[in-house]
Amino acid sequence: MNIVILGCGGFIGSHLLDRLLSTTDHKIVGWDPESSKIRKHLENPNFTLHQRYVDDPETQQDLREAVAEGDVVINLAAICNPSEYNTNPISVIKSNLFDVYPIVELCVEYKRWLISFSTSECYGRTLSSYVGDTTYENPDLYELKEDETPLIMGPIVNQRWTYACAKQMVERLVYAHHKEDGLPFTVVRPLNFFGPRMDYIPQRDGDGVPRVLACFMGALLNGDPMKLVDGGKARRTIVSIYEAVDAICRMLDNPEKANGHAFNIGNRNNEVTMAELADMMRKTYAKITGDPSYEDYPIIEVSSEEFYGEGYEDCDRRMPDISKAKELLGWEPKIALEDVLLDTMTYFHNEYAGAMKPAQVAE
Ligand code: UGA
Repeated sequence: MNIVILGCGGFIGSHLLDRLLSTTDHKIVGWDPESSKIRKHLENPNFTLHQRYVDDPETQQDLREAVAEGDVVINLAAICNPSEYNTNPISVIKSNLFDVYPIVELCVEYKRWLISFSTSECYGRTLSSYVGDTTYENPDLYELKEDETPLIMGPIVNQRWTYACAKQMVERLVYAHHKEDGLPFTVVRPLNFFGPRMDYIPQRDGDGVPRVLACFMGALLNGDPMKLVDGGKARRTIVSIYEAVDAICRMLDNPEKANGHAFNIGNRNNEVTMAELADMMRKTYAKITGDPSYEDYPIIEVSSEEFYGEGYEDCDRRMPDISKAKELLGWEPKIALEDVLLDTMTYFHNEYAGAMKPAQVAE
């Protein structure tokens, strides 16, 4: 197959390249301004990288040729970091909606299969949270089903939803083209993929606020306290990046089954509150370093306004129904959260040697 991947140099893209370039003969053409996570593939004859942004005028011509020659286009290019949704909303809307529009149009023109990476945030908050039911007794009010659950987002003053809304619009655009023009498509809704190379470690190789894994890991590495936003009550289900990539490969291997569907890709068995995640991570780090004092590593609480600024609103819970992926792709994740954390945190520990000891933490 000829595969076009936009955003091939990010966390998901780098793992997808690892898998595809080592287990298949597919020819891959990718776009990404960043290549630090995919350096080892740059000399591979089956891979060509265009080191440019999607909205670069030069990209348009090359992309047209690549799509014309491609069998499938995978769009992973996005700004997908919650700390930017309310602080950098115009860029978030542009990169996740308007920059994607020409890609969708090209796929329509050449009738190419588009695998469009969306987000679990499309669901917004659970119905439970809106009716004030924090017991979550009724799964109908919180389980996320691709083709049934309403997509509910907060008011425009809560700019947290700029990203989710842009992604939802792309899903609707793609689906509309599928119905009207026969565009072959698959929408992927990732639910918290964790693994090596996710985001960046603050103060080491980036500024700002990455997603929770890198925030907690950065705290442990840098000797800062781990911060729980709004008490750490929010729940997430976490899936190994390796199993997530496996789901994508199953889609690529079964286009007739994947075409025309949105899929939740997540692990129902790995649900934790952010408070539980912080505790698991400090215990895992004690194991990795052999230093038991990490078990009591400082965890502090901060308000979301203090942490993210004005206009942040959280998704309370994300419990995916994954029966569609099971039935159509034969995909079912099995790696337990303990193992995901051990593997991922060992990678970060080895990568960023010189961690400070808990005794050095300024409380
Ligand atoms: C993000 C993206 O917006 C989604 O598109 C993406 O699908 C998802 O990550 C993902 O990785 O799959 P979210 O889970 O809200 O969504 O992002 P995180 O930044 O990882 O936050 C998770 C939770 O941890 C939130 O409740 C946040 O407030 C909390 N958090 C974050 C902390 O308690 N402390 C921190 O230091 C950072």
